[in-house]
Amino acid sequence: MLYSIETRSLSKSFGDLKAVDDISFNVEKGEIFGFLGPNGAGKTTTIMILTTLLKPTSGQGLVSGFDVRIHPKQVRQSIGYVQQETTVDEYLTGRENLLLQARLNHIPKDKIENRIDEILELIELSEKQNQTVVTYSGGMRKRLDIAGGLLHRPKVLFLDEPTVGLDIQTRRKIWEYIKKIRKEFEITIFLTTHYMEEADQLCDRIGIIDGGKIQVIDSPQNLKSAMGKEVISLTIENGDAEKVFLSELGKIELINKINQDKNKITLFASKGTEVIPKIFQISSNLKVKINSISLTQPTLDDVFISYTGHEIRDDEGGFNRKLEHAKMKRLRA
Ligand SMILES: Nc1ncnc2c1ncn2[C@@H]1O[C@H](COP(=O)(O)OP(=O)(O)OP(=O)(O)O)[C@@H](O)[C@H]1O
Ligand SMILES: [Mg+2]
Repeated sequence: MLYSIETRSLSKSFGDLKAVDDISFNVEKGEIFGFLGPNGAGKTTTIMILTTLLKPTSGQGLVSGFDVRIHPKQVRQSIGYVQQETTVDEYLTGRENLLLQARLNHIPKDKIENRIDEILELIELSEKQNQTVVTYSGGMRKRLDIAGGLLHRPKVLFLDEPTVGLDIQTRRKIWEYIKKIRKEFEITIFLTTHYMEEADQLCDRIGIIDGGKIQVIDSPQNLKSAMGKEVISLTIENGDAEKVFLSELGKIELINKINQDKNKITLFASKGTEVIPKIFQISSNLKVKINSISLTQPTLDDVFISYTGHEIRDDEGGFNRKLEHAKMKRLRA
């Protein structure tokens, strides 16, 4: 079998809302594949369908070759799922948490101790294993959570926002562990994130998802190079001449693509340094005030804006509030 995950026209509606809207993608064996998208894009809903926790409204989802609708049990046996919020028990030690997980997953008794030792070693928690989780940092808790999802040796590991809320150093550490896990266990990893850098550093391929739809799928490198060589970002003072300004910019031959998000305009150009004087000429003719202008190599942020027409807004408070809200709704559903 070639693919670890296959979806065909997969959709999920909640009433009138199409949370996942006709998505089709394949994840190859051994790949780290990421869904990059803002709050409410449909990332968790997709994971919940693929982990058999939600039924799709239409379309098909296969994990390890098993259809999530027809063979949910086989799907569950072949996957590990680490939820966004940590699920470890604070009043147990690290090792006790893993023992509990091992029993819940029906791991043969004679194998439990060895597997726990091995995983604790891998995520570098051996020394702390006999301390209660209350004493663990956020990053250590997350590592323990990930370890719990690996004990039964899944073929596919689902990680929903594996580093949300952690500081950047801790996030980098977690990325290292995720790479190590892929190598040691030869597994496929499907993760979701709304951090550009995470998608860029960690994923072999990413799917940009927005409003329930996949906008594009490719490797971070290909996505960036397809943008054209350079990106010019400018902020302008909004006003009457704005529309004409944009249409005049569109006439500059070296510009491949233009995006506007409120007062921020992003231009993708082949020769930035030649384009900039032309921009100033147009703005002075039309009396459009430019507040800032910069020239950079493309990043995944630019890719994201190019495909969705807006920035990914990393608003932690809003994110958590929405997540709680979504969870409550799910409990009711
Ligand atoms: N049980 C439910 N009932 C109604 N609407 C829901 C339910 N679950 C999710 N939704 C809605 O579906 C959309 C997609 O939600 P989902 O949780 O999949 O997004 P997400 O990409 O994981 O977002 P986040 O980054 O905030 O975790 C949102 O608009 C959400 O409010
Ligand atoms: Mg989510």
